[in-house]
Amino acid sequence: MLTPSDKALVPFVSVDNMMGLVHHIGIEKVLVDLAADIEADFKRWPLFDKTPRVASHSDVGVIELMPTSDGEMYGFKYVNGHPKNTKEGLQTVTAFGLLADVQSGYPVLLSEMTLLTALRTAATSALVGKYLAPKGAKTMAMIGNGAQSEFQCLAFKAVCGIDTVRLYDIDAEATKKAARNLANKGLTVVPCSTAQEAINGAEIITTCTADKQCATILTDNMVGAGVHINAIGGDCPGKTELHGDILKRSDIFVEFPPQTRVEGEIQQLADDHPVTELWQVMTGDVVGRKSDSQITLFDSVGFAIEDFSALRYVLKNIRGTAFFDDLDMLADPDDPRDLFGMLERRLG
Ligand SMILES: NC(=O)c1ccc[n+]([C@@H]2O[C@H](COP(=O)([O-])OP(=O)(O)OC[C@H]3O[C@@H](n4cnc5c(N)ncnc54)[C@H](O)[C@@H]3O)[C@@H](O)[C@H]2O)c1
Repeated sequence: MLTPSDKALVPFVSVDNMMGLVHHIGIEKVLVDLAADIEADFKRWPLFDKTPRVASHSDVGVIELMPTSDGEMYGFKYVNGHPKNTKEGLQTVTAFGLLADVQSGYPVLLSEMTLLTALRTAATSALVGKYLAPKGAKTMAMIGNGAQSEFQCLAFKAVCGIDTVRLYDIDAEATKKAARNLANKGLTVVPCSTAQEAINGAEIITTCTADKQCATILTDNMVGAGVHINAIGGDCPGKTELHGDILKRSDIFVEFPPQTRVEGEIQQLADDHPVTELWQVMTGDVVGRKSDSQITLFDSVGFAIEDFSALRYVLKNIRGTAFFDDLDMLADPDDPRDLFGMLERRLG
């Protein structure tokens, strides 16, 4: 067997190493730091290559590629969304991703991103909450208590300072699981038996359900003045969570309009319905929340730049640790043009 040179090796972060890294740093610190890195990248938004993600739909789900580049690094994520999967013992969402050096085109990191997606989605939600949620908000309704839910709750605690979460899921077992996982995490956890009960007294409403159809998790009469809605689960054509009337009463904030208009809650609205781009709120060019009575809605679908920030965060934080393996991923013949010779030498 030939020994690969250093140039052949790409750091690979497995699921086990990702879990080790998160515990080594501490999950709330990871969420806070990730939110800061995502915010820094949103503030330099115009610099990035941006394209709606490339989606391959089937009757049961979607598989997507999410590329972007800031001119120095290039990144992409592979991610799926299959709401029926949990019934078969599989995750609804799995992901992995890669970062590469634009100058050489060589990959510099390959990483699991199922956990990282939950972390980056939660960090992004909480970052947006920091700008849009009513001042002093302490209570969040968490509707949909699946894989993403605890990450969302902890991010809003760490970044926005909430102290209470009110949980609801159509599957009471999911709510029990989330309540168990959130015990002793510094939050008051209130399991609820309806969505209406969950939103009572909540200044922030997060919807994070999975259903491959236009669902109505919230109806118009359920949403009072002044709340911030963090709508995570409507992220595919024909897959939404909010009644259209809520959208008409809300000021709507999005990541990348060309993607959100196809995938987000606003697919229910006219193509020219006004929306605000979040990066402009973060740079201070546009005001976010203007009044106490305003309903703000983050129509989250997840954008490639958030994954790019998350991959760079991982690359930065694995340096000097044992939370990665070197993967023999790139063919590296001694003479760059002798790829065939390298293959031949493998024989003997
Ligand atoms: N916006 C983003 O960036 C982003 C990122 C990751 C995931 N997502 C989306 O978030 C959603 C949740 O992801 P997950 O990994 O937690 O999925 P999951 O399947 O683990 O959990 C979804 C939960 O929603 C519950 N649910 C379904 N219909 C409901 C209803 N009508 N009322 C209350 N609860 C209901 C299910 O019982 C389940 O517990 C998915 O739709 C996924 O595509 C979005």
